[in-house]
Amino acid sequence: MTKKPADSKAMRSRIVGSKPPAETARAKLRSTTPDAVSVSLTVNGARHAQAIDPRTTLLDLLREHLDLTGTKKGCDHGQCGACTVLVDGRRINSCLTFAAMYDGAQITTVEGLAKDGALHPVQKAFIDHDAFQCGYCTPGQICSAVGLMAEGRARTADEIRELMSGNICRCGAYTNIIAAIQQAMERS
Ligand code: FES
Ligand code: FES
Repeated sequence: MTKKPADSKAMRSRIVGSKPPAETARAKLRSTTPDAVSVSLTVNGARHAQAIDPRTTLLDLLREHLDLTGTKKGCDHGQCGACTVLVDGRRINSCLTFAAMYDGAQITTVEGLAKDGALHPVQKAFIDHDAFQCGYCTPGQICSAVGLMAEGRARTADEIRELMSGNICRCGAYTNIIAAIQQAMERS
């Protein structure tokens, strides 16, 4: 039996694949991109209304849309705490949450803690105790400590350590961080 000659075009597309025409690819992309949503947040006392992709995380909204780069992106997976901010006074990992969920909320980042030129007691304590080395984790540590104090659950160094365990310091400045938080707690 004679073998049917292979259709060279079909064979080639099986081997190297075939690219969709540019317009088809663009249309496909458009059909998978959700419509923008409006969100209005008060960040460090200033109101911001934005139309954003609903998949935008709170962290990306702060850093990429509002240029508030004090809040850091470490793991982007909820494991390091570098992105900690306060939402209505409660500490959260901003990388793990969509900005659209916080329409109408009050957000505080490290840029919003000092008042009238005076550092927040936690910021001052971090300086007094030299509670950092590279400083990358520091904004998250400070926001987390402010949230911890508002929770009122930590009394001892061990409790502070336990309740700050979501904030990783790769430089290992933990001893000084705990001492700084204890100072801020004593003076508040
Ligand atoms: Fe959010 Fe690491 S960047 S927890
Ligand atoms: Fe460097 Fe904490 S000071 S990661």
